[in-house]
Amino acid sequence: MLESSINSSLVQPHFVVDGQGVNDEISSMPGIFQQSVDVLIETISKDVESGINNHMLFPVIHSSLKDPYASAAHVDDMPLQNAVRLLREKFGDSIVILTDVCLCTATDHGHCGVIHNEVIDNDRTIPVLSKIALSHAKAGADYVSASDMMDGRILAIREVLESEGYVKTGILAYSVKYASSFYGPFRDAACSAPSFGDRGSHQMDIRSGYPEAILEAVTDEGEGADIIMIKPALTYLDVVRQVSDVVSRPVAVFNVSGEYSMVLSATPDEESRKKMVREIFHSFKRAGADVIVSYHTREAVSKNWL
Ligand code: PBG
Ligand code: ZN
Repeated sequence: MLESSINSSLVQPHFVVDGQGVNDEISSMPGIFQQSVDVLIETISKDVESGINNHMLFPVIHSSLKDPYASAAHVDDMPLQNAVRLLREKFGDSIVILTDVCLCTATDHGHCGVIHNEVIDNDRTIPVLSKIALSHAKAGADYVSASDMMDGRILAIREVLESEGYVKTGILAYSVKYASSFYGPFRDAACSAPSFGDRGSHQMDIRSGYPEAILEAVTDEGEGADIIMIKPALTYLDVVRQVSDVVSRPVAVFNVSGEYSMVLSATPDEESRKKMVREIFHSFKRAGADVIVSYHTREAVSKNWL
């Protein structure tokens, strides 16, 4: 019982690039690749055969297409949108597709918002996030996943989706997202490192306590989020417990890139990796996570580790 329920809560992340036949392993994340749409479809087909049904797609956008406003992120025939459309055609409703909604992979400065007077401008960012979410919904995403941390974006995205008729598209809110040192490898993978400054203005202070985390989660729930995410996972299991005790929606954790790399560098062989990953995944469950986004998903499910 426990085994099957933990497998069905796992989500595999993917990085989608332009081109044909591209399958580039990310050097700081062994086992994780940037893939063009054709390779991605094959990869996900194999994943589905091995029992992985939940897939989260991140766009990797060529630097020549980046601008200050992340315009490329909401163009309907970009690789990510094309991938979603093809996956939907091929798999129908038998898989769950989640897409990452943020600006940082498409801005030339690498920040998660529009910059105005040298700061990230919350209210100028919201309309862009809404356009990105709509573009992903049109392509056929099941859940648009807002990873930006702007205030009020869940309500704005909900309103755009409703008014355009995408009433079934869910919203996963990165509600409790810390300004963490565990995101380094991801920024290589998504080519999204900020060119100056950091994400301290909109991500949460790592020293902040439970009231702030709970406020963020409850606010997003009230604005219409369908899934409440906490990120990173391992260093915030106490927060996962606190939040899952108060919200009525499913709670997700993101077992982030730095956590993945840490496990790989701490384990000399597959057997030790298996043991460590099992222990980590069960700690997520115990803390109250219903959904686990992890780069270990493919290996854990295909090798029946759990
Ligand atoms: C950016 C985003 C980040 C991650 C997911 N979306 C990084 C960041 O905030 O800089 C991190 C995921 C990971 O480290 O695996 N919107
Ligand atoms: Zn971002």
